[in-house]
Amino acid sequence: MVKNTVKVDELVRSGKLSPFSPIYLTCCRLGVKWLPYVNGCIYGPTPGITETLDVFLTCMEFDSMLDLFCGSGALSKLAYLRGVREIVAVDMYTESAVKNIGKISNIRVVRADALTFRDGCYDLLVADPPEKLIKTFIKNLSKISRMYKHVALVWLGPYSKVSRYRSFFTSKKNYKIIEVWGDAIMVTWKRNSKREVEKALASVQQYI
Ligand SMILES: C[S@@+](CC[C@H](N)C(=O)[O-])C[C@H]1O[C@@H](n2cnc3c(N)ncnc32)[C@H](O)[C@@H]1O
Repeated sequence: MVKNTVKVDELVRSGKLSPFSPIYLTCCRLGVKWLPYVNGCIYGPTPGITETLDVFLTCMEFDSMLDLFCGSGALSKLAYLRGVREIVAVDMYTESAVKNIGKISNIRVVRADALTFRDGCYDLLVADPPEKLIKTFIKNLSKISRMYKHVALVWLGPYSKVSRYRSFFTSKKNYKIIEVWGDAIMVTWKRNSKREVEKALASVQQYI
């Protein structure tokens, strides 16, 4: 059977990952020992989405979160550490997330296609798709907006390339695309959360 997971320590031992890289340091902090290894790509929590999520979790209160394309489950673990008590983590390859999340009963790992997953409505939604799926994901934003009550954070790839998605947003309201550590993150919100989101956004801007 093909294994879709690789040990973080093994990546460091073989020189594929520096022990000083932000991904490694984040993994250590969150107790993430396994990363997804899918079709020759290793995935993990990148600095931009991790930091943006952390600022929102610190500035706002959320009871529930949906983590689409959860990969290692690092973002779900971060949310759990910051007090979110109902978390659903979705990925096509769940081996790493299952191992990393272990017995944390507040996080439910679901093996499913995140492009079509439509189960429930959560306070916060975070989506970290692989680059090749970003376009497809944002084309369906109106359907996704039924799945969160307050805020959604979506990774849009490197900020230097974000202009290719601008046309998708021309008619959209209540959103901002921010740059955090070179990543483009789309922050979109429901009207009732505007004030709190503005405060959180001001904090993200202070950090970078
Ligand atoms: C950029 S990584 C996410 C990294 C994750 N945020 C973390 O902290 O480890 C993208 C993830 O999308 C998953 N994936 C790719 N296509 C998918 C699909 N259609 N549905 C669900 N997951 C998918 C991959 O298995 C991979 O784990």
